[in-house]
Amino acid sequence: MTVIGTGYLGATHAVCMAVLGFEVLGVDVDPAKVELLASGRVPFYEPGLPEKLQDALASGRLRFTTSFDEAAAFGDVHFVCVGTPQQPGSHAADLRYVDAAFTELARRIDRKTLLIGKSTVPVGTAARLAQLVRSVSPLGDELELAWNPEFLREGFAVEDTLHPDRLVFGVDSEWAERQLRVAFRPLLDEGTPLVVADTATAELVKVAANSFLATKISYINAMAEVCEATGADVNLLATALAYDDRIGGRFLKPGLGFGGGCLPKDIRAFRARAEELGVGQAVRFLDEVDQINQRRRSRTVDLVRELAGGSLQGARIAALGAAFKPNSDDVRDAPALDVARMLYLEGARVVVYDPEANANAHRVYPDLDYVGTLAEAVMDADVVVLLTEWDEFRRADPRDLGALVSGRRIVDGRHALDASRYRAAGWEYRALGRPAEAATAQLVENDKDSVAHA
Ligand code: UGA
Repeated sequence: MTVIGTGYLGATHAVCMAVLGFEVLGVDVDPAKVELLASGRVPFYEPGLPEKLQDALASGRLRFTTSFDEAAAFGDVHFVCVGTPQQPGSHAADLRYVDAAFTELARRIDRKTLLIGKSTVPVGTAARLAQLVRSVSPLGDELELAWNPEFLREGFAVEDTLHPDRLVFGVDSEWAERQLRVAFRPLLDEGTPLVVADTATAELVKVAANSFLATKISYINAMAEVCEATGADVNLLATALAYDDRIGGRFLKPGLGFGGGCLPKDIRAFRARAEELGVGQAVRFLDEVDQINQRRRSRTVDLVRELAGGSLQGARIAALGAAFKPNSDDVRDAPALDVARMLYLEGARVVVYDPEANANAHRVYPDLDYVGTLAEAVMDADVVVLLTEWDEFRRADPRDLGALVSGRRIVDGRHALDASRYRAAGWEYRALGRPAEAATAQLVENDKDSVAHA
């Protein structure tokens, strides 16, 4: 099989398929990426992937190339995993890389093979591409296309690929379904649930899933806004909600909200596509979901300003985290970096430390100061703001940090710290949706699996 596009999704898919025993050729138009991967190095931070890449290369079952000629000659099935970013100046998805990958491949295919899209695309894309590839391929109408959405999370990419919650095959024929069953046999043999559907449903499953997750996060963050106006505590609220199995505690963690290369652009592209289809009203609530999420960023800046004494001008702020979530070096639409930038624009001197994302963050916002350790970041800080909940920050001792800062003031943008420990160590602790002082009742008894521990 071939895997076209070797970003977060494609590189992981190529490596894992080789680990599962298939002969895999990874293809990318970027020679630098191909060279790195071929030499056993992963161009981004993903725990566990470098080791698996090295195993796969050593097995002789994984190679990389920039040549579409080689790919077309090699593959019985082709997985297309290229990016679908947000179009500049629009909410819609930019499909130019998807279109190019399918066209380049199809043009060279002269024997019966299956093209499989894995990228997240607006519903209807597979049907359009099926026509396109048939019109350019020497194979003509015999060329088939299927959609197989991917649900992996960054930071857990290997685990999610080797042990997914479910597989979804969007197919137009029994032959296409059979090819996919062969390609995923090791996972199906393990009992992974499979949904076989038409291509439109398969495309929709992905955007519907990401929209649901985004909605759940914004829901609890909307409750945080109400808590802020009433003195209620959103953490306790979320804990109590989570005991209802119908609601569940996952993705109910309040704080700075969602970012990354997926959730934000997917809900926007879904809105744009729904408008085109004449059903914009059905998903108009996703605008609210987006806006609630954006407000978390400005509210975090408000809290930092408040702790800095009403003005950020000249204040020294330690920004802990830049990545959009821990265990990732991805800063695409990262709430953390956005907050650091807003603080800087208000005149603060912002010192950023992220265990893995400093280099990527520096490329996007070179104006901020970046340092290589937590201690350097908090040194002489007027206010510390936790923006990405890396374990290193959770584990830090508030007394040790307290000895380094200029003022013991902390905004916990991710509800990741133990407020009582910080307060006991003399810190002024603030978090979105929680009262400024410790609430009187914070009792959670016999707690086994609440969001507090999620
Ligand atoms: C997301 C989905 O979870 C994957 O299933 C999907 O495959 C992927 O997008 C994709 O479309 O490729 P990912 O972007 O890696 O995965 O990140 P998540 O773990 O979903 O986190 C997204 C954001 O939500 C992060 O910024 C995180 O900090 C935030 N979040 C998450 C919260 O604010 N609260 C929560 O309770 C959970």
